[in-house]
Amino acid sequence: MDHFLYKDGVLHAEDVAIPEIADVVGTPFYVYSTATLTRHYRLFDEALDGLDHLVCYAMKANSNQAVLKLMASLGAGVDVVSGGEYRRAKAAGFSGDKIVFSGVGKTRDEMCLALEGGIRQFNVESEPEMVLLSRAAESLGVVAPITVRVNPDVDAKTHEKIATGKSENKFGIPIARAREVYALAASLPALEVVGIDVHIGSQLTSLEPYEQAYLKVAELTEALRADGHQIKRLDLGGGLGIPYERSNTAPPLPIEYGALVKRTLGHLDCEIEIEPGRLIAGNAGILVSEVIYVKSGEGRDFLILDAAMNDLIRPAMYGAYHDILPVIEADAGADMQPFDIVGPVCESGDTFTKNRLMPPVAPGALVVFRSAGAYGAVMASEYNTRPLVPEVLVHEHQFAVIRGRPTFDEIINRDTIPEWLEGSA
Ligand code: LLP
Repeated sequence: MDHFLYKDGVLHAEDVAIPEIADVVGTPFYVYSTATLTRHYRLFDEALDGLDHLVCYAMKANSNQAVLKLMASLGAGVDVVSGGEYRRAKAAGFSGDKIVFSGVGKTRDEMCLALEGGIRQFNVESEPEMVLLSRAAESLGVVAPITVRVNPDVDAKTHEKIATGKSENKFGIPIARAREVYALAASLPALEVVGIDVHIGSQLTSLEPYEQAYLKVAELTEALRADGHQIKRLDLGGGLGIPYERSNTAPPLPIEYGALVKRTLGHLDCEIEIEPGRLIAGNAGILVSEVIYVKSGEGRDFLILDAAMNDLIRPAMYGAYHDILPVIEADAGADMQPFDIVGPVCESGDTFTKNRLMPPVAPGALVVFRSAGAYGAVMASEYNTRPLVPEVLVHEHQFAVIRGRPTFDEIINRDTIPEWLEGSA
C-alpha cells in the first residue's frame, strides 16, 4: 500500500496534488511520501517483534539526506556500502553503533573512516579484506567487530544482475569454507567475530530461497559455536521484492518474511539484523514527467517524455517494468491505445516500455512512473548533459524540495580546463 492516489481525478502524493508540485519545480522530478516510507519501515520492525532486532535500511536504494533523517528518526539502523554512504549516514544523524558496512571492495581508507567514526559491524566478504581490516584496526589501536558474509549457493530466482547468493557471484565466501575462514578471523589480532551475514539477492518474490539460505545459516551458527566462536548476531540481508506490476501476484509480505525468520532462526537466541532497501523506498516514490510529443511511427506510436534513461535506468538496465499512469485520471471507458514510451536520449535503449496501453494523452500532459523511489534517483546520471532531476518529499499537505535541480552553469563549471588549453579556442 502506498499514498499515491487519485483524488477528484487528479493524482496526489498524500494530500498534495502532483500538478501543484510540477508548477513549482518543473518536470521531471521524483516525489517521495513520508507516510509510505514510515509505514514500510514499521512493517519490517513489527514483523520482527519478539526478536531482539534492528532494521538497517539499505541506503543504496535511496540515500537522500531527508529520507535518511526520516529513517534515523524512526529508530532504524543503516546498511552502507561505501565511504560516501558512511558519510551521508553520519550526516543524517545515524550513530556509529547503528551503521553496518557491507560490500566486496572496502578500501583501507573506508575502513579507517568507519573505525574512527564508529561502526556496529563490518560485513567482511573475503580473507584478504579480513587481513587488511585487522591491520587497519591495529594501526588505530581499536578492535573491529565483524561478521563474515557467507555465500549459501542458493538461487534467489531473480534477475541475474541482482542475484548475489549463487556460487558464481562475487559476493561472500562459500559457505562450505566458512569454518576455516572463521578460524582465520579468530586468529587475527584486531578483529572481534560477532556473527554471520548473508544476502542472496534483490527483488525476491518468493520466500523459498530465503528459507533455504536461513536453514544453512542456522546450521552454520551451531557449527561455529561448537568451534568456539561467538555468534550473537545474524545479519540476514535485504531483498524482499515489491509488486511493480499491480496485475501480478504480490510478493510475500514483511510479516510473512518475519514469521519465516522466527521459524528458521528464532531458536538461536541471536540478535537479528535485516537490510531492506527496495521494500522501504520503492513504492514510496514516483517519477513525474511531461509528455513532449506524441509521434506516429511505422506501425507504432511513440510517447516522447521529458524523462529519460539517465533519470530512471531500471527499464534500460534490467528490462524492468514500471507502471506508467496519467496524472489526470482517465475516464472509465477511455479508449486505450498502445504506445512505445521513450525519452529524449540519443539511444534506442532509451525506451521505458513498448506497446504499453495508455489512455489518450496530449503533449503537456503529466505522467508518472510508479515504484520509482528505490534505485531511481540514486542511479541517475547526467548523460546527454541532462541535469539530475529534483527530489521532493511530501508530508500530508506539505511538500519540500529535498534536492534541487542543478543549473547548467553548475554542471559546466564542475569541469576544469588545463592550463595548456586555456585561450586556445
Ligand atoms: N544488503 C545488501 C548487501 C545488498 O547488496 C542489497 C542490495 C541490499 C541489502 C538491499 O536489497 P533490497 O532490499 O533493496 O532488494 N539496482 C538494482 C538493485 C540492486 C540491489 C543491490 N543490493 C535494481 O534497481 O533493481
